[in-house]
Amino acid sequence: MATTPLWHDAVVASFRDVTPTVREFCLRPGADQQAAAQHYDPGSHLQLQILVNGKPQTRSYSLIGQPDASCYRIAVKRLEAGRGGSMAMWRLAVGDRLRITTPQNHFPLELSAPAYLLVAGGIGITPLVLMAQTLSQRGASIRMLFGARSEAELAFADVLRKHLGDRLQTAIADKGEQISFETEIAALPKGGLMLICGPLPMLDAARAAWTAAGRPLADLRYETFGSSGRFAPQAFRLQVPRHNLDITVDAQTSLLETLEGAGVMAMYGCRRGECGLCTMDVLALDGEIDHRDVFLSEHEKTANQRMCVCVSRVLGTVTLETAYRPEA
Ligand code: FES
Repeated sequence: MATTPLWHDAVVASFRDVTPTVREFCLRPGADQQAAAQHYDPGSHLQLQILVNGKPQTRSYSLIGQPDASCYRIAVKRLEAGRGGSMAMWRLAVGDRLRITTPQNHFPLELSAPAYLLVAGGIGITPLVLMAQTLSQRGASIRMLFGARSEAELAFADVLRKHLGDRLQTAIADKGEQISFETEIAALPKGGLMLICGPLPMLDAARAAWTAAGRPLADLRYETFGSSGRFAPQAFRLQVPRHNLDITVDAQTSLLETLEGAGVMAMYGCRRGECGLCTMDVLALDGEIDHRDVFLSEHEKTANQRMCVCVSRVLGTVTLETAYRPEA
């Protein structure tokens, strides 16, 4: 199980739009805005509680830029077809209160590698901003690839260009530009690390090229957003014979949260589709599973015999066995 984070009050001190669809928030800790923000390392995030359709929901956001005792900075992508958290964040006004955790880090930056390749897709840039700043200040060998829909969607490109100069290369989808993982990985010195944060298809392409190049998987570090699937979230039916449950998972709530809400004890770790601790056996499926994790192999995803309930969703009806088994 993950360590329990410490929750406390915070206030929206300010916000600004860094792209047409990305809003950066400055959150001051303490109900009276008097507490100091804690120091954090590159790759850190905080969790935040927000009301979605009147129900409290938890979301994770990476911390951006150098630690600043006066506030925590996060950025939120506007997702009209998301689970509702992003739109609820975009409705926040200066002075609004919310609950946040102290910083945690599941995506740490190891500083002893001979070279670094940082790769970001869209809002996946957020954990990599401080990594780029830290590595460039240390004089590390670094190159960054940043893919976005358009020039206007290159969030934080100004600060990245300042630190990286021409070591930052962008790929704009609207111009037909793509990241060539094969070329970039071939140019990365032996022992170099690739750190990546972006949507699942980007991660899959990076992992395939990394493996094909014979690089050790331990040198590929990544963080995902649990929100990027093949289908927009929608309600689906969940049956759990062991607990005599036949309930609906609504579009705004994850399968794991729904089970917890129904009083079912479920194993979990990262809650981001990375560790596999929440994996459950699929007893029956009438419809399709939208696998949104990076834990199961492509073969396992196609077989549909297990699913990561923290992030993956279903179109139709699924019947699950909730008893924990580390291996199928
Ligand atoms: S809790 Fe880690 S993959 Fe679901």
